[in-house]
Amino acid sequence: MQQPQDINRPMADKVQQKFEALFKAKPLVIRSPGRVNIIGEHTDYNEGFVLPGAIDKAIYVAVSTRTDKTIHLYSVDFDETLQVNLADIKPVKGWATYVLGVVDQLVKNGHPINGFNLALDGDVPIGAGLSSSAAVECATAFALNELFSLGIDKMEMVKMAQKAEHSFAGVRVGIMDMFASMFGKKDHVIKLDCRSLQHEYVPFQLHNMKLVLFNTNVEHSLASSEYNVRRQQCEQGVAWIKERHPQVNSLRDATMEMLNQYVKPKDEIIYRRCKYVVEEIQRLLNGCEDLKKGDIAALGQKMFQTHEGLSKEYGVSCKELDFLVDYVKGNLAVLGARMMGGGFGGCTINIIKNEAIDGLAADITKAYKQAMALDLTYYIAEIEQGTSLVAQ
Ligand code: GLA
Repeated sequence: MQQPQDINRPMADKVQQKFEALFKAKPLVIRSPGRVNIIGEHTDYNEGFVLPGAIDKAIYVAVSTRTDKTIHLYSVDFDETLQVNLADIKPVKGWATYVLGVVDQLVKNGHPINGFNLALDGDVPIGAGLSSSAAVECATAFALNELFSLGIDKMEMVKMAQKAEHSFAGVRVGIMDMFASMFGKKDHVIKLDCRSLQHEYVPFQLHNMKLVLFNTNVEHSLASSEYNVRRQQCEQGVAWIKERHPQVNSLRDATMEMLNQYVKPKDEIIYRRCKYVVEEIQRLLNGCEDLKKGDIAALGQKMFQTHEGLSKEYGVSCKELDFLVDYVKGNLAVLGARMMGGGFGGCTINIIKNEAIDGLAADITKAYKQAMALDLTYYIAEIEQGTSLVAQ
């Protein structure tokens, strides 16, 4: 079997060894990565575009079949086990809910699965906005599809993973995270049209720069409830426009004129939420052109604008994220920076010149500690391939 180049062999071996020690069987091992998103935030569930890429940090899942109807789960990281009956799948607290959510989707869709053993490990930081949960869901779907020869295509697995998140984690997420994890391609970002689901791989090479993620190490509890509120606010804006323009089905179809005419007079907050989305969809299209031309400076400026919009108009930033973006603003070695993902914590994504990374990371860590009394961690993200089988 051809091995993916980006596989973290020690991590894959570790999960395999733990699995074999615990379950006394030889597993299939699947790798499914976390993701970054260059630009296009909170646009996926508004049928706009996103520009994510899979990264070199991933979840590894080892699986084998059982002869009974039970599911035995083990998290290496948490050193926790869970046993459930296939007939009794329901949401639980913590990591296992993402596995069970996918099992639930498979069962509901009539796929013939039996009992199985599953062990899981990974190096995607949890709660950092790098989509560790989507990675677990995609890894599980891919693993069970292989294990039981279900013949499900990748797009269907992505949709099931998204539904699992809706029904078992209770967050009405868009499709970006799962899509990026499953369909990632080395050194390419994915320009995904979230309405048609057509996608284009755009080469992503930064040459003398890198993508650096600064982790606030906070995850405010508002994150999931406010996420659902933002979705409702966008839907309300669309409903008001639709009264006059029945052909408008999402903010993808809306123009600033429509917002000014039909939303602004009704509700200023909803107007600002919708305005951000309409602007962001256009900003992504322009940013994508910058990237294709190799104009990283222009793309980076747009990332700063995105942050401004997410913070001031869309209201999903927090003081820790704002601090990290403000800190790097004006630094000539930083071409772009913004909060990434759903918001209310997690990471900022930065494009930084290679020679400045170490020094800046040291400075910002110190400043962040002083200002927020919190430790900052940082990672360099390389763009790697999506979900794959790495051992059998
Ligand atoms: C989370 C969701 C995605 C997307 C982003 C914001 O990561 O899972 O679907 O909506 O937030 O862009």
